[in-house]
Amino acid sequence: MSYMGIDTSDIDRMPRGGFRASCLDRLLETDRQEYLDRDDVDESTKNQVIGALDWTGRFFRNHQRFAAIALDLVADVADPRILELGAGHGGVSRQLLADHPSAQVTVTDLDPDSVARIAASDLGSHPRAEVRQMDATEIDAADDSYDLVLFALSFHHLRPSQAARVFAEGTRVAETLLIIDLPRPPAPLHLLRLATMLPMAAVLPFVHDGVISSLRSYSPSALRSLASHADPSIELTLRGGLNLPQIVIARNGR
Ligand SMILES: C[S@@+](CC[C@H](N)C(=O)[O-])C[C@H]1O[C@@H](n2cnc3c(N)ncnc32)[C@H](O)[C@@H]1O
Repeated sequence: MSYMGIDTSDIDRMPRGGFRASCLDRLLETDRQEYLDRDDVDESTKNQVIGALDWTGRFFRNHQRFAAIALDLVADVADPRILELGAGHGGVSRQLLADHPSAQVTVTDLDPDSVARIAASDLGSHPRAEVRQMDATEIDAADDSYDLVLFALSFHHLRPSQAARVFAEGTRVAETLLIIDLPRPPAPLHLLRLATMLPMAAVLPFVHDGVISSLRSYSPSALRSLASHADPSIELTLRGGLNLPQIVIARNGR
């Protein structure tokens, strides 16, 4: 498999900054896992991270912003069927349901505790919501079951071969896959961002996971290699900026 003459067959060896990442950029990555991904961490620590994500999403209106980006992509569909992967707290799905009068939303996460918490919330009894456990790399749904798949602030959790699977699976079950994630800034700016976060990482679980997320974020060039590795016919549109989330819109050219 190749993207712009680069062999992507050993995709797990790709640096998060892409195959042509600079030496400094290659240093700014880690194999360490976030608290959210670890089995040896207290449930209360994970709950703190998920709670902080939900709070910041509401406070900084990211839930609203993410829902608006998603709904814009299905503006032409009367009653859109939307699948949210890695929903964590369910805040973005809740916003989707509030902002669209007839959207059907399937709210999912890999983590059974998160799924149980979402199911016990208002989303569990919402007439247009279904709450399920689901792995983004192996979506349990038939081809073209949805109009849109959304994966927010979660893509960096996956190593490259798993991330490529999300491109393949997301564009199999829906016409459009929307990934929203942390941007990977140029290495000197990335270093600055990390330096401002590091002092608090030892005391605040949310910042600890934020530092690791930053180190694991994919660059635009890496995202293109991942999509091409998944299926060269996937068409990508990338938007974002230094301080804006990285927005990835993927469609299968089939
Ligand atoms: C940082 S949280 C993001 C929560 C929420 N989407 C948001 O915007 O705040 C990442 C979530 O991705 C989930 N996750 C990790 N690997 C996953 C996978 N393979 N499939 C589905 N969800 C996954 C985690 O359980 C976690 O809830």
